[in-house]
Amino acid sequence: MNLNSEAKTVSEAVNTRRSLRAFLSSPVPESLIREILVDAARAPSGTNMQPWKVYVLTGDARQRLCDTVSDAFDTEWAEHDSEVRYYPEKWFEPYISRRRKVGWDLYRLLGIEKGERDKTRQQHRRNFQFFDAPVGMIFSIDRDLSTGSWLDYGMFLQNIMLLARENGLDSCPQAAWADYHRAIRPVISLPADEVVVCGMAIGYADTRAIENSLITERESLNGFATFLK
Ligand SMILES: Cc1cc2nc3c(=O)[nH]c(=O)nc-3n(C[C@H](O)[C@H](O)[C@H](O)COP(=O)(O)O)c2cc1C
Repeated sequence: MNLNSEAKTVSEAVNTRRSLRAFLSSPVPESLIREILVDAARAPSGTNMQPWKVYVLTGDARQRLCDTVSDAFDTEWAEHDSEVRYYPEKWFEPYISRRRKVGWDLYRLLGIEKGERDKTRQQHRRNFQFFDAPVGMIFSIDRDLSTGSWLDYGMFLQNIMLLARENGLDSCPQAAWADYHRAIRPVISLPADEVVVCGMAIGYADTRAIENSLITERESLNGFATFLK
């Protein structure tokens, strides 16, 4: 097996977590996923509301979801939308440049050039196979909850990704799934009062896959922090 080594400290987990987009088929023990979720749910939340709900898919259930949503992606492209707005309606700087950079850095690694729409579409489609990860998660939230609960949700998601690193696993959070809530809903029996937040691929990294060599940039400390004395 070709595994990424386990993180021994929190800072190592933080610094080795990356969104990976190619996984080995090696199965992940269900007991490990359960342990990660129990620990991740120690995340703080306003008045301890714990707004997270997670659907863990492996085996046939995972395949059914992947097939259904990949099919929807192929046939209902024009109808896709999310019930919640993750990205701004109108892009502006500096966010648009950062978004473009990460996209083109990934496509460059994959040998996809500007204008190759079919290839970019096929790469996007890999989201709906959880990038071949054996564990897929769909996260949902009660539709009547507010912004604060979405903030809490992010902490829960980050905990999962860091705990994954501690266990030699890698992950990719995936907003892409939220666009296909209509196709997802019947497959996982998602109640009408829940909305899809995002998905997540979890598994062992394929360290030989070129797309997994992507290291994303970060703004320098001075670019986002102001120290007032
Ligand atoms: C909530 C959330 C949703 C994301 N959705 C997707 C997605 O649908 N597909 C994908 O390939 N990457 C997705 N990403 C990964 C981001 O592109 C990635 O976090 C960013 O480029 C920084 O790279 P890093 O995670 O490797 O540090 C998502 C990240 C977050 C936090």
